[in-house]
Amino acid sequence: MRHTNSFYPFSMPEPVQVAVVGAGIGRAHVAGYLAAGAQVVAICDLDAQKSQLLADQTGIAPHIVTDYRALLENDAIDAVSICVPNALHAPLAIAFLRAGKHVLCEKPLATNALEAQKIADAARKNGKVCMVSQVLRFRDDILALKTEIESGKFGEIYYARVMARRVRGIPKWGGWFTQQKIAGGGPLIDTGVHILDLAWWLSGSPRPIAASGVTYAEFGPYQKHLGAGGPANEAGLFNVEDLAAGMVRFEGGFSIHFEAAWAIHAPRDERFCHLHGTQGAILWDDAPKIIDADGVVAPVTEAGGDPWAREMAHFLDCVESGKQPDPNANQGVTMMKILDALYRSARENREVKIGEREA
Ligand SMILES: NC(=O)c1ccc[n+]([C@@H]2O[C@H](COP(=O)([O-])OP(=O)(O)OC[C@H]3O[C@@H](n4cnc5c(N)ncnc54)[C@H](O)[C@@H]3O)[C@@H](O)[C@H]2O)c1
Repeated sequence: MRHTNSFYPFSMPEPVQVAVVGAGIGRAHVAGYLAAGAQVVAICDLDAQKSQLLADQTGIAPHIVTDYRALLENDAIDAVSICVPNALHAPLAIAFLRAGKHVLCEKPLATNALEAQKIADAARKNGKVCMVSQVLRFRDDILALKTEIESGKFGEIYYARVMARRVRGIPKWGGWFTQQKIAGGGPLIDTGVHILDLAWWLSGSPRPIAASGVTYAEFGPYQKHLGAGGPANEAGLFNVEDLAAGMVRFEGGFSIHFEAAWAIHAPRDERFCHLHGTQGAILWDDAPKIIDADGVVAPVTEAGGDPWAREMAHFLDCVESGKQPDPNANQGVTMMKILDALYRSARENREVKIGEREA
């Protein structure tokens, strides 16, 4: 393990030493860690030039590797961020947890609940922190809303309407995002998971009991409504949905009604999370606001600060103190159970109980 700091043996704890695997959104993790005071000692990507560019841009000199297995036995690494395509989350997270590293895994925790459960089990068995990266939870306007909700002033939150809609936003057509085997699904598992997690967490994480979903693919199969990045691979595959919608029921009667789209005929992109309580409403959108029982509308703190730095600071705090992160792997498993039930509901054209066994 790392050496103690001989110059300041007591007063200066050494920074947590982290590795980041995947240099796409991994760049936000590197910046977040640096802002939160960690040391990024290694970057791994199949493309070494991409890692080097990230290191140069952030002014660090990490060990650069192209095979994550080279990091497993590296005693200098305390914790690892996993920022690779979704189907690789489970094998990499499990390997790092077994190697004694703490793990921060990008959303979704896995491509299904079974894989997610294996990650949660590995974290428990090896006594390591495993956190899911749900960065919206670390925005300051959302943290302010969470505090307002917990004060109880909106009464019981009983109904949520959420949307993560892109009008022309199919990402990297033909690359991993549009392939079922690697992504696990389309916008529902990609951007829908952000907004569903947000509504679920803000409403106090009640137990989900059933889900009813529909999925459509009206643009992707024809290479229409692609995002700004255009196609990643013209010869590639699109076999996921480009729109998902539906409803999730929770214990106590709370329900979330959602839409997650990469492509649709509509005037503009929209992202919101509207929660309705017996004594008022919390409306998170382009201009977050609350409404009290008399209908008086008040704005909520503008988004400020750096949610990534806040997220990494929380993860590092859990690594150092051993406390459970928020969201932990069990919450990641619950979210995957919700997504599994929604996809199954769409396939089987019926409402599905959460946790219902596959026939
Ligand atoms: N929290 C967020 O806001 C957010 C945003 C974007 C992506 N994500 C999530 O992050 C993950 C990565 O998405 P992305 O947009 O960065 O994708 P990306 O394709 O842009 O980047 C993924 C990187 O992983 C590398 N890679 C692939 N296989 C690898 C392997 N075996 N070993 C090492 N590196 C490997 C690729 O070379 C690529 O550079 C996904 O799970 C995605 O859902 C989260």
